[in-house]
Amino acid sequence: MSTKPGAHGFTTRAIHGGRVPDGHRAVVPPIYQTATFRYETVEEGARLGAETGPGYFYTRWANPTTDEFQRKVALLEQAEAALAVSSGMAAISTAVLSLLRAGDHAIVPKAVYQATFELFHGVCPRYGVETTFLDDPDLDAYGRAIRPSTKLLYIETPNNPLLGVTDIAGVVALAKRCGAWTVADNTFATPYNQRPLALGVDLVCHSATKYLGGHHDVTAGVIAGPSDLIRRCVRTMRILGGVLDPFAAYLLIRGLMTLGLRMERHNANAFALARYLAAHPAVERVYYPGLPEHPRHAVAARQMTDGYGGMMSIEVRGAVAAGARCVEALRVATLAVSLGGVSTLVTHPASTTSVNMPREARLAAGIADGLIRISVGIEDLDDLIADFDQALAVL
Ligand SMILES: Cc1ncc(COP(=O)(O)O)c(C=O)c1O
Repeated sequence: MSTKPGAHGFTTRAIHGGRVPDGHRAVVPPIYQTATFRYETVEEGARLGAETGPGYFYTRWANPTTDEFQRKVALLEQAEAALAVSSGMAAISTAVLSLLRAGDHAIVPKAVYQATFELFHGVCPRYGVETTFLDDPDLDAYGRAIRPSTKLLYIETPNNPLLGVTDIAGVVALAKRCGAWTVADNTFATPYNQRPLALGVDLVCHSATKYLGGHHDVTAGVIAGPSDLIRRCVRTMRILGGVLDPFAAYLLIRGLMTLGLRMERHNANAFALARYLAAHPAVERVYYPGLPEHPRHAVAARQMTDGYGGMMSIEVRGAVAAGARCVEALRVATLAVSLGGVSTLVTHPASTTSVNMPREARLAAGIADGLIRISVGIEDLDDLIADFDQALAVL
């Protein structure tokens, strides 16, 4: 099948694209559950190790099952190449450490995934990389933070957990003017809804643990972009060691095949649930980029071409205990961290993930007492609405 982006539709590419020939014409990709590959002569071993010809050498270098997953992601993200790694954080840290060096400056929104914030806040300074954190990732704020040493403008859109939206093309234009890289975390949107590389971003990262896998059963990450930058990431990954296991790659290939179908349902369920909850008297606020009242709905409408995704947050009325009571009363939705799988998951940060944060700091970060993050699954919409309805009735 052609690897030309756009030659086939999204789901046709996800199912048929990126096949690695296996010699037996297996319809389902085999799992090469091997750490190493035999060579017949020492010359062949030297060639495989140096990658001066085709063939596999050692799974931390490359593996056919992992290659197939990478090729599919590249087709879906409209990238020249992709690199699979062992988690979303392995993808983000590998990408960032591949691009930056001591003396460089990065610009990062404060409201990014917590471990990404820690990478820039706690780890990068130890290696001489300084970061300016933005309260509101609007274009003016990115522009004001640029210095002569700025080498990276980092984007996460929509972001975790308040579904803030950043103008990808606008940030890319600023970065190009100052000769900086752009990296975008596309986990929440997925390549079905949003393709940052087509908007000029240099590298896209994913927690493949989420929608790409889609079933809450695999931890993985992936980076997509031009071949030369992916090559840099490959070299970093081989040293840092965040390699993906071949069985995880197989689960991801299987997940990708239904990504388009699942995203259609995630998009539709979340949109309808957001509308329902926005009108519910026990709900103070709904954060969902698809709603016209979202402050950056127009930007989201421009760049999320095929849907607004399955993630939303709501604020229920009342104190921390009210939010906790509500999530504990849910029967279809499950109380668990992570997101992007077939089943609906909810978290109440004030009583769990942010429980040790001083209240003032938590509120300043936008995490209200009653904030509930919802990863809307693909269950029947009526069952989801009924479940939230009965849980909100306990307030
Ligand atoms: C937006 C986003 N990026 C990155 C990550 C990290 O992914 P992983 O847990 O696979 O390392 C997460 C995890 O929740 C996330 O939500």
